Amino acid sequence: MTRASVCTSLIIGCIWAQAQTPLPIPDTLTGPLIQLALQEGTQEFHPGEVVATYGYNGDLLGPTLILQQGEPITLNVTNTLPDLTTTHWHGLHVSPANDGGPHSVILPNTTWSPSFTVMDRASTFWYHPHGHGLTDYQVSLGAAGMIIVRDAQEAALDLPRTYGVDDIPLILQTKAIVSGQVALHTGLDSVVLANGVRNAWKELPAQVVRLRCLNGSSERTFLLGFSNALQFHVIGTDGGLLAAPVTLNRLQLMPGERAELLVDLGGQQGQSFQLMSYGSELPDDIIGAAQVGNGMATLDGYDLNALNGADFALVTFAVGAPTGDGTLVVPTALVPTNAFNTADVDVTRPFNIEPESMGAMQMIEGPFEINGALMDMDVINEVVQLGSTEIWEFINNTMVGHPIHIHDIQFNILDRNGLPPEPWESGWKDVVFVPAMGSARVITRFDDFADPDMPYMYHCHLLMHEDEGMMGQFLVIDPNAVGELMTDQVGLTVWPQPYADGPLRLQAEGLEGRCTVALADALGRTVLLEQTVFSDGRGSIVLPVVAPGHYVLRITARGHVPLATTLIVQP
Ligand code: C2O
Ligand code: CU
Ligand code: CU
Repeated sequence: MTRASVCTSLIIGCIWAQAQTPLPIPDTLTGPLIQLALQEGTQEFHPGEVVATYGYNGDLLGPTLILQQGEPITLNVTNTLPDLTTTHWHGLHVSPANDGGPHSVILPNTTWSPSFTVMDRASTFWYHPHGHGLTDYQVSLGAAGMIIVRDAQEAALDLPRTYGVDDIPLILQTKAIVSGQVALHTGLDSVVLANGVRNAWKELPAQVVRLRCLNGSSERTFLLGFSNALQFHVIGTDGGLLAAPVTLNRLQLMPGERAELLVDLGGQQGQSFQLMSYGSELPDDIIGAAQVGNGMATLDGYDLNALNGADFALVTFAVGAPTGDGTLVVPTALVPTNAFNTADVDVTRPFNIEPESMGAMQMIEGPFEINGALMDMDVINEVVQLGSTEIWEFINNTMVGHPIHIHDIQFNILDRNGLPPEPWESGWKDVVFVPAMGSARVITRFDDFADPDMPYMYHCHLLMHEDEGMMGQFLVIDPNAVGELMTDQVGLTVWPQPYADGPLRLQAEGLEGRCTVALADALGRTVLLEQTVFSDGRGSIVLPVVAPGHYVLRITARGHVPLATTLIVQP
């Protein structure tokens, strides 16, 4: 460091020391074996007020996991909380059993050990608890951390990647602290946090710097921008880098979303500026705007919260000396994103979002249903065939915008209200903004992981909505895997046979609960894939209209040899 830069840092340090807190940079952990312990802790968000919190390996938040594409990893997640929990790797492409959704419960004083090979593209992901009805509680108390995946394509680019120096993790959140405790499901989230502290400041080198922004809030959307009108370059979104940087001065980041931004601070040594949320510019279907929808109370205390509709700082940055070996120019090209092709689409699934009961308040406050149902741990809402390319269309019949998240996959946004997405969100995404009284369509393919029993989730990432049931479950089924096991054909009876119309009755001794029924035609093409519930060995399904001929009907159920029989459909 030169003498001049030492002085600059000291001066900047002094100026901000009174009011500002240094931005904490979480420790890093890397493979092949990662130990995480969910624990209770405390934090003074305001000096002198000790608040009970949760964290991974500490009092609040957790270490940043740095993973390498193609490498195997085992995570030991130990629950030292007095409550059950789960830990979900948000955005990672892993099997349902490794995904950490609400079915992968970690009881107190036990350890869950998922193990997988990292398949994801270089990007910024995160981890957080996902217990049924418990997500908001445990995330709001502080349990969440960042995941950085690296890969060869990213490594070949001249991008800032010195963690904590020119590559900065930013977990951006608001929290409600009421009477010395973290409060849930309120509009009083007035404490603004970056990596867990208020009034954070950080010195950045005078060169190109990368900011990995994660909105880890329960409900609040940030409209990111810089106080000095600095333009920034979006280089990546949820699941990967963009084909080329997109230059902007505002970016809407909803709960669950991530964006990697480059800022060029060359020649700006000695300056300081703030990363802001321009809440005054948020449209009125977004939580964080001055009013939501028709202005009826959105959440208790919403009108009293000075952050709503206001512009406020998330982090203050002071520009110090360049590192000498940093990135000096924003690259013009990044990584090609091979979009899915609508010509390959096998299935289009509509998802209608509506309040559970109709009414002006309910249109804003919820609870919200997807396709007429609230989340039920015992109900599979969708069955997807392994390898199929699908369009998921979210139709929002409510007065509030929802960030909808799908587990397992990354998608591309096809359109929103019929129009192409913003250029910056044309890459890999796992959360999509679905505007009030509007719609969004995404396209994806369900590759690699099938499991006849363990579902993945899709849900709103506003954690109150999620916990109130704005979530559904989907299975990915491999019909061919079922076919290989069909040698054991005893015990399955179907009638009427031959079949003409009406319900098809199924009977097989011992079948109980949820089972998957697949019907394949003579060419092996699946014409029906559905879940049905057996009781006392009996179940029934309604067949779609199919051509007359010979079909194979297969049933898979937990703990049973798959069953199959021939079904003759008559003209
Ligand atoms: Cu970040 Cu299903 O969650
Ligand atoms: Cu997720
Ligand atoms: Cu929602």
